[in-house]
Amino acid sequence: MILVTGGAGFIGANFVLDWIAETGEPVLNLDALTYAGNLESLKSLQGDARHVFVKGDICDRGLLDRLFAEHRPRAVVHFAAESHVDRSIHGPGAFVKTNIEGTYTLLEAVRAHWSALPAGEKEVFRFHHVSTDEVYGSLKPNDPAFTEKNTYEPNSPYSASKAASDHLVRAWHHTYGLPVLTTNCSNNYGPYHFPEKLIPLMIVNALAGKPLPVYGDGMQVRDWLYVKDHASAIRAVLAKGRVGETYNVGGWNERPNIEIVRSVCALLDEMRPDPAGSYSRLITHVTDRPGHDRRYAIDARKIERELGWRPAETFETGIRKTVRWYLDNADWVAHVQSGSYRDWVATNYAAR
Ligand code: NAD
Ligand code: DAU
Repeated sequence: MILVTGGAGFIGANFVLDWIAETGEPVLNLDALTYAGNLESLKSLQGDARHVFVKGDICDRGLLDRLFAEHRPRAVVHFAAESHVDRSIHGPGAFVKTNIEGTYTLLEAVRAHWSALPAGEKEVFRFHHVSTDEVYGSLKPNDPAFTEKNTYEPNSPYSASKAASDHLVRAWHHTYGLPVLTTNCSNNYGPYHFPEKLIPLMIVNALAGKPLPVYGDGMQVRDWLYVKDHASAIRAVLAKGRVGETYNVGGWNERPNIEIVRSVCALLDEMRPDPAGSYSRLITHVTDRPGHDRRYAIDARKIERELGWRPAETFETGIRKTVRWYLDNADWVAHVQSGSYRDWVATNYAAR
């Protein structure tokens, strides 16, 4: 089996569902179930012996040692993290704790497990670290897209904590020989995305007739990838990636935020028309994010060339599937909008 950390979050849950459907190999899913973890996203695996869920923290070394001894996973895919830039601005401590100390604790547990494996198992063992394009900093309008050779220039507490975790993973390979793989991916979107992030927040707010808060001028550019394409990229890297290498993963879909919001409004106008008029009437420009990175773009040629991976979805096909999913899964959406979600919305938007 493989051990997945953070498999109840947005990308982790999509990955676990995809992995079991595509490979049939069992998953040991370790997740602390923070505000971002949601077992409802994994409901379709209830009663499936190939999914073993453990509620626990990657900072808990004793738990990690017990899990490795009992389950002897052949690989680890590490998603668990604090992932929201705005939350990192309001409270960076949790990001340092989970993203840096948690990754360090996990690396040490993995190293102890891996060092004691018999030669054959040791040879094929892999630690896959899931990271972000935000570690490279912000691009100017005409800069070339990020390659794996770009320098690290993280600007937010979130991206700095992810950059630190990338460096730890790199060092554990160079110093101890741990067989690691790292992927740095662009912005994901798709089913089970928590509505604190741009695309699901806009869908959920629009359907509730609430303002659609666009930070600043809305001309910040992100490179969007449908989440199932990220899952297939991780499968490809885990199977065929060269140990110690990093691979950038992206969808060749650079768009300014305002265009993303308008696309969401247009799809909702088509699929769930509002008698009051186009959802775009709700677009409201609000105070910008402090230190807001202007542009990210991924050069994904290395993973395409070396591993033959390509995204299956364009932005047009992926965003249509995503909006449809939110319309068809109103229960999931209602359940994630708990009291703590409402508190976060008040914290982040009330003073903007
Ligand atoms: P998410 O916030 O939706 O999910 C994170 C998951 O980790 C949650 O289930 C949470 O309960 C769990 N978790 C948090 N702290 C934990 C801890 N201490 N121990 C165990 N579990 C813990 O995040 P996501 O958007 O699914 O991102 C997953 C990973 O992918 C992160 O490492 C993130 O940096 C990276 N990434 C995300 C994106 C994106 O667009 N969302 C893009 C590139 C890379
Ligand atoms: O690039 C990969 C990263 O993408 C991941 O590493 C992060 O985990 C993930 O959260 C995401 O970070 P962003 O900050 O780019 O995503 P977010 O959805 O928060 O914001 C996308 C853009 O939309 C960003 O420019 C800020 C803007 N935005 C966001 C929100 C929540 C708004 O204009 N209004 C909003 O209300």
